[in-house]
Amino acid sequence: MWHWLYIVLAISLSEGILAQNGTCGVQVIKPHQHSSTSRVSRIVGGRESIPHSWPWMVLLRFRTATITCGGSLVRGADGNIVIVTAAHCVDGATDPADWKADVGVHSRASMEPNQKEYGIQEIIPNPGFNFQFLDDDIAILKTAWPIELNDYVQPICMTTENSELKVGQECVVMGWGADVQGGSPVDRLHEVYKPIIADVDCGNALSVFGYNNNSMLCAGNLVQGGVDACSFDSGVPFACKNTNGQWELVGISSWGFGCAQPGYPGVYTEVYTFLQWIHDNTHTSAGGPVVG
Ligand SMILES: *[C@@H]1O[C@H](CO)[C@@H](O)[C@H](O)[C@H]1NC(C)=O
Ligand SMILES: *[C@@H]1O[C@H](CO)[C@@H](O)[C@H](O)[C@H]1NC(C)=O
Repeated sequence: MWHWLYIVLAISLSEGILAQNGTCGVQVIKPHQHSSTSRVSRIVGGRESIPHSWPWMVLLRFRTATITCGGSLVRGADGNIVIVTAAHCVDGATDPADWKADVGVHSRASMEPNQKEYGIQEIIPNPGFNFQFLDDDIAILKTAWPIELNDYVQPICMTTENSELKVGQECVVMGWGADVQGGSPVDRLHEVYKPIIADVDCGNALSVFGYNNNSMLCAGNLVQGGVDACSFDSGVPFACKNTNGQWELVGISSWGFGCAQPGYPGVYTEVYTFLQWIHDNTHTSAGGPVVG
């Protein structure tokens, strides 16, 4: 009975909440083919992305900072494009006027032709967010005017299943974060592939730090370490390719014990847990931007 209920709920989630108008998760400019042998140093164990091959990537800036966090463009339930990031990025910083979001960026230092800056109108942190353990580390940012889509700016799809069903799949995290623990953010977008680890192993490695298998997932190499997100990568997407070839937002970079340390895989917000919450907070554009 319980299993039956669970399956029905899962189906209604993927067909109802997740039905999305328009395309998502497909790039015009294709990314590098993932090859597990090419591991040059960056993002920690990754490499520079092909410019604009991850068109849902958002650079978030607080006040005068040149980088604060990253985020992802997704389509809300009303069809408007919103930004999803980590709640800890906006903790104690929820005045929308303090924030700017840049899309179409590859190099942070150069003013690129496809780059565009948006003001923020509304910041919605998940009410369950807890700074001590980083539970429910997800927030929605609505821009002050509608985000224009083009070859360099596209939303990623929402995940349709719990990451437990993807254990072992190599997914990609992208960001401008430090390439070594304690380092500075880099200029150009980098990416690194990491396999999803089973919750039971994440719990064994990380429960002393507050790993919660309901709202988190972990990824990386449990034994070797060497690939990870790092400082200034908070809020960036952890994306997996689905069987249709579209990229889905499965995780949001949340926390880690150091960066790429053996035995301490990186932890991501489990986006699947928050699909209903994202839906509930994007189904009406009342007072918000109108689709143009
Ligand atoms: C799709 O778009 C229509 C109108 O453009 C809107 O009413 C509807 O809520 C949207 N549905 C989803 C799931 O985006
Ligand atoms: C998930 O966490 C709960 C509570 O800590 C624990 O009882 C359960 O065994 C965990 N499940 C897995 C698969 O690790």
